[in-house]
Amino acid sequence: MSEKILVCVAWPYCNGDMHIGHIAGAYLPSDIFARYHRLRGNDVLMVSGSDTHGTPITVRAEEEGISPRQVVDRYHPRNVEMMRQLGISFDLFTETDTENHWAVTQEMFLEHIRNEIVYRATMPQLYCVDCNKWLADRYVEGVCPHCGYDGARGDQCDNCGRTYDATELIRPRCKYCGGSNIEVRETEHFFLDLGAVNEPLLTWVSDGSKAHWRPNVYNYTVSRLASRELRGRPITRDISWGITIPVEGYEDKRIYVWYDAVIGYLSASKEWAVITGRPDAWQEWWHDRAARTYYFIGKDNIDFHTIIWPGMLIGYGHGLNLPYDVPANEYLNVEGRKLSKSRRWMIVMRDVLERYAPDPWRYALAASMPESTDVNFTWDEFVRRNNEELVATWGNLANRVLGFAYKRFDGKVPPPGALTSDDQAMLDAIQPAFDKVTAALDAVKIKQALGEAMALAHEANRYLNVKEPWKQIKTDPEGAATSVYVALRVIDTLKVLFAPFLPFTCQALHEQLGYDGQLFGEPYTETLPESERSHLALRYDASAASGKWAISDLQPGQALRDPKPLFLKLEPSVAEEEVERMTSGA
Ligand code: MF3
Ligand code: ZN
Repeated sequence: MSEKILVCVAWPYCNGDMHIGHIAGAYLPSDIFARYHRLRGNDVLMVSGSDTHGTPITVRAEEEGISPRQVVDRYHPRNVEMMRQLGISFDLFTETDTENHWAVTQEMFLEHIRNEIVYRATMPQLYCVDCNKWLADRYVEGVCPHCGYDGARGDQCDNCGRTYDATELIRPRCKYCGGSNIEVRETEHFFLDLGAVNEPLLTWVSDGSKAHWRPNVYNYTVSRLASRELRGRPITRDISWGITIPVEGYEDKRIYVWYDAVIGYLSASKEWAVITGRPDAWQEWWHDRAARTYYFIGKDNIDFHTIIWPGMLIGYGHGLNLPYDVPANEYLNVEGRKLSKSRRWMIVMRDVLERYAPDPWRYALAASMPESTDVNFTWDEFVRRNNEELVATWGNLANRVLGFAYKRFDGKVPPPGALTSDDQAMLDAIQPAFDKVTAALDAVKIKQALGEAMALAHEANRYLNVKEPWKQIKTDPEGAATSVYVALRVIDTLKVLFAPFLPFTCQALHEQLGYDGQLFGEPYTETLPESERSHLALRYDASAASGKWAISDLQPGQALRDPKPLFLKLEPSVAEEEVERMTSGA
């Protein structure tokens, strides 16, 4: 029976180009997970989109002297195109400034009011007297009340990750004028009454069904809920960019970006269903109790996904599925330093895709995935992984066996003779390796799954070093045929195991092994029409895919195709050049 798997991925702020930390944190692990489930024959719906609202976008717009919409129009297509090139196979990657998303958000907002989980109250808010402006979120900076970092923003500290009220900031400065003629004034807002869902949330996380959650996600969530300190949080702002409040008298305020962004998971599922021509299909993932929903996010977003969004869903009251798992990742640092745009320490994904193929990046970032701790990426390591692991261990294995079979066995998979104990041992190693990769992927342990697949490739290399069919053929042609047959079976299985990680080269290998058809469909971009304005989306069509998650049953006699190397070796000087490029900020 095929299972329903909803893969929700954090909505990236559309205020810049995405960097390799974003990719390793959320977009790559979710794509690997989605591809794995598609190969298993499960019904995957993978959604996200550009987060286009809030002060992250307006601050950028002011810096560049353009409108917030122009900021979105610049970066959304660039990020969409980058993810297409990298093979991130969203069923739908849309954006939040669409009619559909506005409507779904406003509907939930009104329902929250009707259910009395959203209420109105006044709150103290910072106001710049010189600018005559409210200082929402990123419009104020100061010293963090928790860690003392100078440069903390109104809603969150980038240094310690804690959230607080802007009025708690020490020595606040106005972002518009840099001044500190700031007063605390009362303003009216809508609040999400998290206190009202504290108990239901605590029951939900402590019912014994969350044993598979990552310890940091689980412990953080339980301790927050068990402290029973949840209280109302404002979900509107004194700004003019964002979704309007569907209640009269609040024309000069907007819905808070985080409230609308998490609703994106639902609105994008609905949008996908409409464009697919089955407008109710989203319900299969949101109402069907057997469906499993996964949220791939960075560690700074945990409480939005394990507390606030589930609280919003409970408060909405239509029986929508709560998260099954929230596999939050930690951070990827580069050359020992935190990635930071303002400190000009950055690897922009679209830039490096101009110089390198996508699969080496997918490999390097999956192998260094920050699943349980922060991980340090280095260019040296990138080159080493490419040359030693992809080229030498996996690529050469496939290429030399295929090349040999192609030349010496008439371009066909040779029929095996009697199996020696070495041959049998190699064949017997396939199933346990396959099971280990499967178990790791089921548990969203991406790095471990890749390691288990690589271990089988190492074993195949050891086997070939013992058998040496290229020598064996001179004295024992039947034995050589057997070795090649056995090795091809391992390679054909490794093709499946590596496919979620390395979809481009595994497709090439699939064809070299003589198969027709696609392991996966190709992600593509499309402009979706809406009555007021259209928007660009990244999409994926699973109907072209024929791959299966199963060990090889490659048959003797199958015609091979002329093999070509899957990966290219990189010069060691590449590492130095790239570090130099980063240091000079080019
Ligand atoms: N835009 C946020 C960020 O880039 C993430 C939003 S995730 C969602 O940090 F939950 F809102 F979808
Ligand atoms: Zn000011």
